[in-house]
Amino acid sequence: MNETKHILLIIGGGIAAYKSCELVRLIRKEGMTVRCVITKSGQEFVTPMTLAALSENPVFTELFDLKDESEMGHIQLSREADLVVVCPATADLMAKMNAGIADDLATTLLLATDKRVLTVPAMNVRMWHHPATRRNVQQLRSDAVHVMEPDEGEMACGEYGAGRLPEPAAILTEIQNMLGQPAPAMMLSAQPDFAEAEHRPLYGKKIIVTAGPTHEAIDPVRYIANRSSGRQGFAIAQAAAEMGAEVILVAGPVHLVTPPGVIRWDVESAREMQIEVEKALPADAAIMVAAVADYRAADTAEQKIKKKDDAPTPLALAENPDILASLARHEKRPGLLIGFAAETENLKDHAAAKLAKKGCDWIVANDVSGDVMGGSENSVHIVTKDGIESWPKAHKEVVARKLMEKVADVIGN
Ligand code: C5P
Repeated sequence: MNETKHILLIIGGGIAAYKSCELVRLIRKEGMTVRCVITKSGQEFVTPMTLAALSENPVFTELFDLKDESEMGHIQLSREADLVVVCPATADLMAKMNAGIADDLATTLLLATDKRVLTVPAMNVRMWHHPATRRNVQQLRSDAVHVMEPDEGEMACGEYGAGRLPEPAAILTEIQNMLGQPAPAMMLSAQPDFAEAEHRPLYGKKIIVTAGPTHEAIDPVRYIANRSSGRQGFAIAQAAAEMGAEVILVAGPVHLVTPPGVIRWDVESAREMQIEVEKALPADAAIMVAAVADYRAADTAEQKIKKKDDAPTPLALAENPDILASLARHEKRPGLLIGFAAETENLKDHAAAKLAKKGCDWIVANDVSGDVMGGSENSVHIVTKDGIESWPKAHKEVVARKLMEKVADVIGN
């Protein structure tokens, strides 16, 4: 697959720029070609000569370099790639991308490209958490730019936290994932020819999806959780975005990449998930795929609970809010409300009872007695007031697409 793929790598100015050299090496090793563009401040950290040697291609630095323009225009440079990768992406570069500023070669290419863009941020932890950067990241994500989460750890500046550039191997995996995925719907919308060719029945509709487990803290280091991977919910969010919907994905703690064009809000606990879901209202549909913990620790200890010699400390539990049931009663209840039911026995009976109990419109019931919760396939039954539809076992992505087509039949254009 990688043999003929071309990467345009834009290197911003930051201490992490040196890691882009390793990334170039890994991309080449996979048989892809890479052309590098480096910003003026990036050149303070890495030389164009190093990148040229590693990429075996000329490196571009200046917008008004006539020699480069005569050989290859900047539009061509931005379009010949299969994927544009910005690594490292500084806070400044992301702010410019968000604002559509094109005042040097890197930012001009980013504005001119019609290709998917992977952005790999690296910056000081406070810069990463600054409201301005949060806004820029959120807007870029909703513009279908794929922004990776930075790693957490010790920073070059001596502080600790989120903002470290992910390891080059992880970036390479992300590149390979993106090259294997279809372009998101929001990118297609920017291109009228494709937009017409693609059927986007959920265009103009807002859909909330919850996914993953929740973590309910017992003390600072322990929590109650379950085996949900988040894959089914993420696949549904992706399918909805590809069909043109504006998607808010409220995700519990999972190790998954945000699907292109999806707005993702991360949460830990059931109560946080409820707050974020309510913030996302109103919506045309809500699909509650998350495996929300039914109970949390009644009290969260502020210090780590010590092991006792005589008897274990009993764990008192308190019931969590039922987000699905509360949405069903909410004054801004989504027009179509879908719950999931993970059962290990009497699947259809339990699902039908759940439909009534929760007050939702459909229940998607799945048997989780096998490896469904961590696995890649799912076999589901759609329970509605009109009866039960059983679908054959399929990849979670296929189930997601089929489910969203059914949703589009009800709320779509
Ligand atoms: O009752 P049960 O956990 O089986 O219900 C599953 C459905 O209810 C799922 O759609 C899940 O996302 C939702 N749920 C919820 N809040 C809870 C528990 C479950 O929204 N506290």
